[in-house]
Amino acid sequence: MRILSGVQTSGKLHIGNYFGAIRQFVALQENPANECFYFLADLHAMTTVHDGATLRRNAFEVAAAFLALGLDPSRSVLYRQSDIPEIPELAWMLSTVTPMGLLQRCHSYKDKTAQGIVPSHGLFAYPVLMAADILIVKANLVPVGKDQKQHLEVTRDIAGRFNDTYGEQVLTLPEPMILADVAVVPGIDGRKMSKSYGNTLEIFAPENELKRRVMSIVTDSTPVSEPKPTRGNTLYALLKLFTPPADWPATRRCFTAGGTGYGELKKRLLGLILDTFREARRRREELERDPGAVEAVLRSGRERAMEVIGEVMADCRRLAGTGPLT
Ligand code: ADP
Ligand code: TRP
Repeated sequence: MRILSGVQTSGKLHIGNYFGAIRQFVALQENPANECFYFLADLHAMTTVHDGATLRRNAFEVAAAFLALGLDPSRSVLYRQSDIPEIPELAWMLSTVTPMGLLQRCHSYKDKTAQGIVPSHGLFAYPVLMAADILIVKANLVPVGKDQKQHLEVTRDIAGRFNDTYGEQVLTLPEPMILADVAVVPGIDGRKMSKSYGNTLEIFAPENELKRRVMSIVTDSTPVSEPKPTRGNTLYALLKLFTPPADWPATRRCFTAGGTGYGELKKRLLGLILDTFREARRRREELERDPGAVEAVLRSGRERAMEVIGEVMADCRRLAGTGPLT
């Protein structure tokens, strides 16, 4: 089973990204029947980041984060989208069989422009590039969050149209694998944690910065002695995420029984976050000092991905009639 997923390199990774995506990507490599391909979607990130140094740095950040958090390059293939010009080449081919109406129906374009992202052609064509990412490696399964489900449907539709147009089943229709939504991680202001809300707890932030962010988690004004609400309480939800199950009844009692202040609970949360990511944070620091090691992983990932991509593109070019005569 070939698995593929991509992460936009539009900022630093936060604990929502970890529980909602990365942890699950890393777990998939444990099954030897899975052939996992993960890539840094830097061309997609260009729909929002227009500063070269930032885009390049972000790709490094995401690659280093994946490696620090347990992605094993001997079991998974990790590469950078922009290292493979065949991806935008296939995207162009696909765009010539993609009806405008299909893209006009996509929610993500409407949602993003409503958020203030420039309504560029790239943003509109985003799902076609995503289809190329998936189809170019003949992925069978694509783990994504619920918000990406429509993009998978678009990918299947486009693949079918390409195959029908050229009369050969060259492109494999992928299945979505909707990631377990057990953890919609709240941000420090109580909304969904997201870099676009500026409410994140970054996995690799310096300790004092992380402390400042945890201490500013929004809480209510229940007096220390009183029981604290649990529903809709961000601190409660975050503690639940990080507390080992055996310790949870005691922590839960701190809320329901009263007598424990929010300040104390925030310190406990900070300690748990640091413990959970201690090893990953150490590895991340090592990689910061050795960017060449990260580049080497991406280079070998590109080579491994190209083994499949070379074959798929040879078929697509042959059918489309691009490239040399023979
Ligand atoms: P952001 O909202 O910060 O821009 P992305 O949209 O780039 O994050 O999300 C990347 C991945 O992380 C997606 O698979 C998404 O489902 C997951 N994810 C992001 N934020 C959260 C969250 N608060 N809780 C759970 N999963 C999340
Ligand atoms: N659009 C995805 C997101 O915003 C990122 C992405 C780009 C992707 N290409 C992909 C995910 C291909 C899965 C497969 O999260």
